[in-house]
Amino acid sequence: MPVSRRNFLRGVGATGGAGAMFGAMGALGLAPAASAAENAAFAPPRASDFTLTGRSSRTVLVLGAGIAGLTTAYELGKAGYRVTLLEGRQRPGGRNWTVRGGDTETDLNGETQRVRFAEGQYMNAGPARIPQHHVTLDYCRELGVAIEPFVNQNADALLYYTGDTAVSNTAVKHRTAKADVYGYVSELLSKATNAGALDDELSASDKEALVEFLRDFGDLGNSTGDPAAADLYLGGSGRRGFDVEPGAGLQAGSISPAPALHDVIASGIGREFTFEFGWDQAVMMFQPVGGMDRIAYALEKAVGPGRIRYGAEVTAIRTTPAGGEVDYVDARGATRTAAADFVVNTIPPHIAARIPHNLGPGVTAALGAATPSPTGKIGLEYSRRWWEDDMRIYGGITNTDLDLAHVWYPSSGFHGDRGVVVGYYNYGRQALEYAALPHAQRRKRAVENGAKIHGPVYGQDIASSFSVSWSRTRYSEAGWVDWTSQTGPEYATLLAPQGNVYFAGDHLSHAIAWQHGAMTSARATVTALHQRVMSS
Ligand code: PHE
Repeated sequence: MPVSRRNFLRGVGATGGAGAMFGAMGALGLAPAASAAENAAFAPPRASDFTLTGRSSRTVLVLGAGIAGLTTAYELGKAGYRVTLLEGRQRPGGRNWTVRGGDTETDLNGETQRVRFAEGQYMNAGPARIPQHHVTLDYCRELGVAIEPFVNQNADALLYYTGDTAVSNTAVKHRTAKADVYGYVSELLSKATNAGALDDELSASDKEALVEFLRDFGDLGNSTGDPAAADLYLGGSGRRGFDVEPGAGLQAGSISPAPALHDVIASGIGREFTFEFGWDQAVMMFQPVGGMDRIAYALEKAVGPGRIRYGAEVTAIRTTPAGGEVDYVDARGATRTAAADFVVNTIPPHIAARIPHNLGPGVTAALGAATPSPTGKIGLEYSRRWWEDDMRIYGGITNTDLDLAHVWYPSSGFHGDRGVVVGYYNYGRQALEYAALPHAQRRKRAVENGAKIHGPVYGQDIASSFSVSWSRTRYSEAGWVDWTSQTGPEYATLLAPQGNVYFAGDHLSHAIAWQHGAMTSARATVTALHQRVMSS
């Protein structure tokens, strides 16, 4: 008798318990076995590792109090390592940065912006969404950082693409685009199947099953009265959304007709609503209540008072027979040297490549092989939540081929009297174009483009604004980095300790541009360092 997936799982669950079942689900591709296993596999160093073996704890200098540096210090601290962090900024978190009223920032263009957001308003300038499977959420749980849903994809958010079709240069709701794209693609595939175009690939019963699936997937109608020929996208079921809402009594609502097949395909409106299919993206994601920097401050607190020297700019790194040494300029401008048994360098690779060291030219080349990738955001604080009041958009993201790329509506404070919209979140060339402008021009351009999508309301009721260009931000100089290869010798160089100097950061992970990458890289470095200490 064939074992159905459900019966198989039930059988495993009965004999092996939940753990075995979870593992089996992983084998079937149903559970994120890899991340679950990795979480279980990471055993933080414990104080007893030292007390029970008669070893004394060691000292570690961590360069950078971003998420990788903080995680490194936090995990080493659990075992009693005496850790000191050197941080250029006056705050923890690095790119984990929540911008609030009263903050000031001077960028590498020399422009100083003062944030004027009202009390309680903020923008997460760096990381802003957390997938359910990332260890970031484990740290939130462990450190007591409250989380709330982040609306990453919203059927009622908009798509806007330029072009010369009937649906170009106009805002289209995600749900409408989905209905039309799935509808027409299903129609085409269903017609091809029924016409025999796929007879080489599909058996008669496969064809039947496929057409049945497509009928539902594309919401296909039946033009001929023959159910097997239900292969026309008629666009009439309400998936597109209503012009007149269904309501009381005889009000059945009204739906406008779908645009022609050509317009839907040629417009490119199917381009972006698949974003949620990515492994690290989803409709349902999370954010800390009150701002992403809650994570950074919780880690700072857990690391312990006085561990972080703020305003410390690293100027040289040396491995020595006894450990490691770091020169830095302190907050008062004095040059100092710190020494420890080990150094963990989490400084972004393109910046670390410029800092003198004695680790050899291979290390400089390896650090320099990472290509900085630009990104930027603008926060527009409105004194009226028009996207909710007028457009009934509650969180989520509008996507466009205008140079804004993405417009984010806030996932908290619903129905409040104000809110911060991320007016652009762009990368690459678009990010560099905005990076080159002073803030006032960034804002002008962002508002002009945003008004194309949302109408004149976009330029009204703006109370304040703040923009960040990560490529023009001191101590970061990029949103993240790209490697041409993560199997080549450069990358491998940085995964290994160079003398007594280790490296960590999201750039040394396969979750670049995620806090998960910084945290897992920190864990890997902590594990390697601790194993070395325990075996010495
Ligand atoms: N983690 C960032 C984000 O979610 C950058 C990123 C975008 C990373 C898309 C991977 C894919 O916006």
